[in-house]
Amino acid sequence: MELMLDISSHDLLIIGGGGAGLRAAIAASEVFPNLNIGIVSKVYPMRSHTVSAEGGAAGAIRSDDSLDEHAYDTISGGDWLCDQDAVEAFVKEAPEELLRLEHWGCPWNREPDGHIAVRPFGGMKKMRTWFAADKTGFHMLHTLFQTCLKHSAITRYDEYFATKLLVEEGRVQGCIALELMSGKLQAITAKAVILTTGGCGRVFRFTTNASIKTGDGMSLAYRAGAPLKDMEFIQYHPTGLPFTGILITEAVRSEGGYLLNKDGYRYLQDYNLGTPQPKPVLRSMELGPRDRLSQAFVKEVEKGRAVEGPYGPVVHLDLRHLGERIINTKLPFVRELCLKYENIDPVTELVPVRPVAHYMMGGVDTDINGATPLAGLYAAGEVACVSINGANRLGSNSLPELLVFGARAGVHAGRFALEQKSPGRHLLTQALDEEALIRRQFLPKTGRRERISAIREQMQKIMEDGAGIYRSGASLTEAAGKLRELQERFPNIALDDQSQAFNTELISAFELSSMLDVAETMVHCALNRCESRGAHQRTDFPARNDEKFLAHSLATRKADGTPQVSYSPVTITRWPPAERVYGK
Ligand code: FUM
Repeated sequence: MELMLDISSHDLLIIGGGGAGLRAAIAASEVFPNLNIGIVSKVYPMRSHTVSAEGGAAGAIRSDDSLDEHAYDTISGGDWLCDQDAVEAFVKEAPEELLRLEHWGCPWNREPDGHIAVRPFGGMKKMRTWFAADKTGFHMLHTLFQTCLKHSAITRYDEYFATKLLVEEGRVQGCIALELMSGKLQAITAKAVILTTGGCGRVFRFTTNASIKTGDGMSLAYRAGAPLKDMEFIQYHPTGLPFTGILITEAVRSEGGYLLNKDGYRYLQDYNLGTPQPKPVLRSMELGPRDRLSQAFVKEVEKGRAVEGPYGPVVHLDLRHLGERIINTKLPFVRELCLKYENIDPVTELVPVRPVAHYMMGGVDTDINGATPLAGLYAAGEVACVSINGANRLGSNSLPELLVFGARAGVHAGRFALEQKSPGRHLLTQALDEEALIRRQFLPKTGRRERISAIREQMQKIMEDGAGIYRSGASLTEAAGKLRELQERFPNIALDDQSQAFNTELISAFELSSMLDVAETMVHCALNRCESRGAHQRTDFPARNDEKFLAHSLATRKADGTPQVSYSPVTITRWPPAERVYGK
């Protein structure tokens, strides 16, 4: 295999071609029409993970709702770890963004009188989740993609994998990317870079996340010197299919679906989430927040009340009482997924489900405009931590988040780019160094024994066992030690594929390396946070401790590659910390 180096240049470079990246590009291009913009994406944009979002996007729109109520639900749902100035900006701009998407062609469901239809979602006091049947992500991404095509200032690098950020004089000035089709390395210089590469659910064994969600952007930023924030907070979605992890949307429960244990009992009534009612009640039972529902599942397993399945314990999701018409009109994709992947028809049969890793509340530390502490580097969407999600995101807040903060990052990075001079030729030396490093690291075949798949599977097991829904000091210490061993073994991986074109084995190696970095930060942040809050539940510290831990964790990479954890304050504006109460 030969590596060759090409060079190209833009004012603004966006790494990640999903919802946040496309929204950032459109915003930057609209505000600064002369800005020359590049988008690097490891997959064709319509294959980004945004496409798989199902249930909907939250934004207060009805006359009985208010921005303050959306803010309060978000902040209490996040167990008071959200930055409240960011939440206030978010709830205000979310409906504006959703309406803008409507004008660009997004086919939101409507009420018979023509108003936007909204559905209830977990942890929300009011119905405010806009939806396009149960294929909301597909329609949003399609709308953004077709809008992006109108902007001639945007150049796309589809199927390019970014391997390194170029940093010179303390400022990010582009990246090195590998073109999958040719195997060529490209140095792409820029005056500002926005990361929009999504999350990292693939660090875990059972996940709703596409195989592309390997934390690449988080690792790029971390290695370049930017801190990762709140990495201990990983969200489990309570209803994934047991083997594949495929998402069965929360919309099933907002339409009235139940969760049953092996005795056919609606067990959530035993977990301070209210009592069963004939119709779904907001913030109650199956419409409680995801962290509480996933924790209740673990307790049911411990009580021996779950159902034993071929891939471990499950509970049942019951939709049968909804009837075929509702399922076909509001949840057609759910029916299709159950039929295709489980050979089960939810119209007549119970669906086995279990909690699966779904969303990363943490990510690259940014301010309200997407700026990271590293000059010239911005981030938006799931790769970033602004933070509006705190210790537990509410379902349907992530799609509007990628619009609001994608747009903000686009405008602010665009403005920053216009103020900078062109990147210097000295970046070429870094690019050549990266080329040599890749050659040394991945191309020689002899004497290497480690397999990518073996290290990846071990990492996923370590994370599931040591840093899952419940963790303890002992489980996290063990996980940290084992991850370090995997990091030490990684340089010994052997690649069988030495070919130039579409060398997916080489890409898997890069992805594994990103995941190991991200996993280490998760475990170290979790080990240092000696309290329980939201999705971070320590069996040895079961209470929330605001005195010590009403703070964001920040993981920075030390010279030896291990994470150093420090803390920064949470911004509280109008909602002082209080107890989280559901089911009332
Ligand atoms: O269940 C769902 O449809 C997921 C939505 C979300 O994560 O926002």
